[in-house]
Amino acid sequence: MPNNIAVIGAQWGDEGKGKIVDWLSEKADVIIRFQGGHNAGHTLVVDGVTYKLKLLPSGIVRKNKISIIGNGVVIDPWALLDEIKQIEKLGIKINKKNLYIAENAMLILPLHRELDGIREDAKSTDKIGTTRRGIGPAYEDKIGRRGIRVMDLANKENLSKKIDIILFHHNSIRKGLSQKLINKKKLMNDLNKISAKILKYSQPVWKRINEFKKKKKTIVFEGAQGMLLDIDHGTYPFVTSSNTVAGSAFAGAGCGPDSINYILGIVKAYTTRVGEGPFPTELKNEAGKKLGVKGKEFGTVTNRKRRCGWFDAVLVKQSCIISGITGIALTKIDVLDGFKDLYICVAYKLNGKKIDYFPSSLLDQQKVKPIYKKFNGWSEKTSGIKKLKDLPKNAQKYIKFINKYCEVKISSISTSPKREDTILLENPFKN
Ligand code: GDP
Ligand code: IMO
Ligand code: MG
Repeated sequence: MPNNIAVIGAQWGDEGKGKIVDWLSEKADVIIRFQGGHNAGHTLVVDGVTYKLKLLPSGIVRKNKISIIGNGVVIDPWALLDEIKQIEKLGIKINKKNLYIAENAMLILPLHRELDGIREDAKSTDKIGTTRRGIGPAYEDKIGRRGIRVMDLANKENLSKKIDIILFHHNSIRKGLSQKLINKKKLMNDLNKISAKILKYSQPVWKRINEFKKKKKTIVFEGAQGMLLDIDHGTYPFVTSSNTVAGSAFAGAGCGPDSINYILGIVKAYTTRVGEGPFPTELKNEAGKKLGVKGKEFGTVTNRKRRCGWFDAVLVKQSCIISGITGIALTKIDVLDGFKDLYICVAYKLNGKKIDYFPSSLLDQQKVKPIYKKFNGWSEKTSGIKKLKDLPKNAQKYIKFINKYCEVKISSISTSPKREDTILLENPFKN
C-alpha cells in the first residue's frame, strides 16, 4: 500500500487547501498539482510570511521537497515565470531539482486569456464570473486537439506548424467577434523568448512518479478549485473547465488508482463561492457580511468579494460520495466564534417536496430552498486550541454533526491561517 494522499476541495474552492497541503507536506517528499491553472489561489502562512500560490504546488515553500506541475494542469508560461520570481523574492529557491513540469502539459496562450475576457464582457446576464485567466479556452483547445504543449516549445519548426493550426481556429472566431487577428510572428517570438526558461523544468512526469513510488516516497496530490466547480459534477455551466474530483488526480498526474490511499476532503466550516451561479445557503444579510469580514473572504486571485453562507451538509456529503473522501479536514472553525446561532442545511425543498441531494439541473439548483438545523453558537476563541476536547462544547457538537451527517470522519480541524494551528485527529499518513 502506498502512503499517498490526494487533497481536494469539497465545496466551491477556497476551503483552505493550501494551508493543509503545506501542513501535510512536512511529511511528504513530493507534491503534485494535477488540474486547473493559475485560477487557483492557495494561501499559506508560515512564520508570519504569507505565500499566495497559483500554479506552484504548496510544497514549494519547504526545503528538500519536489514540486510537480502535472499534465492535467494548464500552464500560462508567463504567469508561471512571474510567480517563480515573486516566490523567489520571499527567499524560496526554485530550480529544476525541486520543480518538475510535465512535458505534456497544455499551455495557456495570451489568446486564451483574451477570449476568456471577451466572452465574459459580451455576456450580460449569464456570465460565469471566471477568473479571466484563459482556463476555459485553453482546456477547449486541449480537447479540440489543437493545443500547444510544453514539449512543443523545444522545436521551432514544429511549433510554427502548431501555431498555424491553433490560429486558423482562433482567428476565425476573432473575425466573427470583430476582434483584431492574432499576429503569428509576435506570438512565435514571445514563445521563443521564454521557451528555454520553461523547458528546463520539463520532464516525463509519469516516469518520475513511478520511480518515486518504487522508492516508497510519500506523495501529496494537490487539487485546485472544489467539487462544486467540477465540469461534470458541479453547478454547470457555472463551473471551471476541469474535473476537480479526486478521480482526476490519476489522469492529471500520470499514475494509476493504486497510487493514492487516502482522499482528504477540505471542507470550510461554512460555505463561500466566488463568481456567479447557484448557492442555496447564501446569506445576503448581516450574518453573511459577518462571515465575509471575519473569514477575510476576498479572492486570492482576483480580489473579488466571496459570497458567504451557512454550511451546506447536503453538498458536502455529495462531494464525499463522488470523490470517495476518506477523511475531512475542517477549516476556519474559528470564523464561527461569536455567532449566537448557527445553521446547517440538511435537506432541500424542491417544488414542495423534500429532497436529500443537490440536483443536476441548473433550474432545480436555482430553485431549491434549504432546510436548516439550528445549532447554538459559542463565544469562546477557538484559534490555537490544540485538542478537540478543549474546543467549546457547542463547537464540538457542530463538528460531530458534520461527521455524522456526511458519514465521513473528521481527520483534522484548522483554527487559524497558521500552519501550526491545526488539530490532528487522524493521521492520513500511515507511517
Ligand atoms: P484554497 O484556495 O483552498 O487554498 O484557499 P485560499 O487560500 O484561497 O483561502 C483560504 C483562506 O483562509 C486563506 O486566506 C487562508 O490563509 C485562510 N485560512 C485557512 N485556514 C484557516 C483557518 O482555519 N482559519 C482562518 N481564520 N483562516 C484560514
Ligand atoms: P482555488 O484552488 C474559487 C471559479 C471562478 C468562476 C469559475 C470559473 O483557490 O480553490 P475559471 O477562471 O476557472 O474558468 O472560472 O470558477 N474559480 C474558483 N473559485 N477558488 C478557486 O480556486 C477557483 N478557480 C476558479 O470564480 O466562478
Ligand atoms: Mg483559493
